[in-house]
Amino acid sequence: MKVSVSTIALSELDVDLLVVPATEEESGDGLEALVASFGDAVVRARSDFSGESGETLIIYPEKGTAKRLLVVGLGESMDVTAERLRQAAAVGAGVAIRTRSETVGIGVPKLDLDGDMASQALVEGFMLGSYRFTRYQTDVSEDDGPQRLVIQTEEQDKLVRRGADRGRIVSEAVCSARDLINMSPNDKKPVLLSRAIEKSGKKNGFEVSVWDKELIEEEGMGGLLAVNMGSQDPPTFNVLEFKPENARNDRPLVLVGKGIVFDTGGLSLKPTKDSMDYMKSDMSGAAAVIGAFEAIAKMDLPIHVVGLIPATDNRPGEQAYVPGDVIKMHSGATVEVLNTDAEGRMVLADALSYAANFSPDIVIDIATLTGSAAVAMGDQAAPVLTTHNSKAAERIEAMVRAGEASGDRVHPLPMYEEYKEQLKSEVADLRNVGGREGGCITAAKFLEHFVDYPWVHVDIAGVAFTHKARPYRPIGGTGFGVRLLVEFMRAYAESKR
Ligand code: BES
Ligand code: MN
Ligand code: ZN
Repeated sequence: MKVSVSTIALSELDVDLLVVPATEEESGDGLEALVASFGDAVVRARSDFSGESGETLIIYPEKGTAKRLLVVGLGESMDVTAERLRQAAAVGAGVAIRTRSETVGIGVPKLDLDGDMASQALVEGFMLGSYRFTRYQTDVSEDDGPQRLVIQTEEQDKLVRRGADRGRIVSEAVCSARDLINMSPNDKKPVLLSRAIEKSGKKNGFEVSVWDKELIEEEGMGGLLAVNMGSQDPPTFNVLEFKPENARNDRPLVLVGKGIVFDTGGLSLKPTKDSMDYMKSDMSGAAAVIGAFEAIAKMDLPIHVVGLIPATDNRPGEQAYVPGDVIKMHSGATVEVLNTDAEGRMVLADALSYAANFSPDIVIDIATLTGSAAVAMGDQAAPVLTTHNSKAAERIEAMVRAGEASGDRVHPLPMYEEYKEQLKSEVADLRNVGGREGGCITAAKFLEHFVDYPWVHVDIAGVAFTHKARPYRPIGGTGFGVRLLVEFMRAYAESKR
């Protein structure tokens, strides 16, 4: 989608659909600016519109150049946040699709929000709201749907431009993560996923190196290899790197993404209904890391970032790892496998122990790790966990702030020492399951065993894939994590000034 910013008056924007977000205060007898620009049609229609959040009013004006006018309610001006603007713009996207509008304008409302924040939110809401996954639909063309978005503003146009650019880059990255998640499992076997990462690296400007099974064996990644045992397809381990000359951090920030391209559960087989049937999304952590790299490379963020993605499917098979197996991990620790469906932590543990080689400033891992995360927080936020020490609050706060600003919301869960007891094994250093209670936390405690640097874990099992359409998250992969990571890294870069 082409995105631009214009300072042309609303009445002179030549678009198929003009979206005007309006607060309750401006509505009712108000909307004066619209009356002036678009004439009596607005006067006749406005009494039907109170400006409540999400309310819509379509007007076919006799004046002005826009074909259609869509007024979208924002609620009371005091309550308007970036998230409200995203949602309002997403409503605009829905109407644009329904009315087959190719060119769409959105007016930046005059509010107590910075111009860059407002325009970024509007672009995100619109682009993410008009996302459709059409790859496998033979009768749907990719060119259906809106093609051009114009953000209209009368002031602050420099800020508005910056926000619109950022919004476009971030949204493109989220959409490419969604594409990867929605893709059929047989199109994203590890080697194919690696090829997609390499292609993205070339296109967007970051380095990619792909390890094959032999190299993974040489490195001793016992966790990744164990999970791969039941598979017909070799695993890959993917190392992404973005290192601009003006990087402000001496030690890299490392992102680790779970890349289970399909999770059957292995011999501890999952039931199909509402469980295995959407486990193509078990590489959503990997997709978030890939999307985040695309965005920071396009934005040229002045920070050194490394990405690590262990990729395999998890299947039952003649050679599949079995409950009772003791696995020697990359770190040298031994793990008693008591459930082959707890595979994510096995592959992440190896990536996390490998991450130490970079002497990282901080490591963030993102993974569809536990059903327990979804039980705890549903689809509105993802649990975020970190080592329980004196710097924990600082790390969590930075993540929560990035979550609030970006709309990919995260919320903390505790990491007290005592939770580790649930991972005690009779035969090995630790076991790979900690029981039903506190499942999201004990999974994080498992990962923590492999970490000796500042680290944050985000469990996106509840938010990565949606079965219910949300304002700007259509059914399927959500791309959750891209906006969170990008916003975190933007703030991180600022903090290193
Ligand atoms: N990929 C799943 C977690 C998941 C569940 C993701 C629901 C998305 C939606 C993970 O590999 C898994 O199977 N976790 C198990 C762990 C258990 C066996 C300790 C779980 O949460 O049930
Ligand atoms: Mn599993
Ligand atoms: Zn899994």
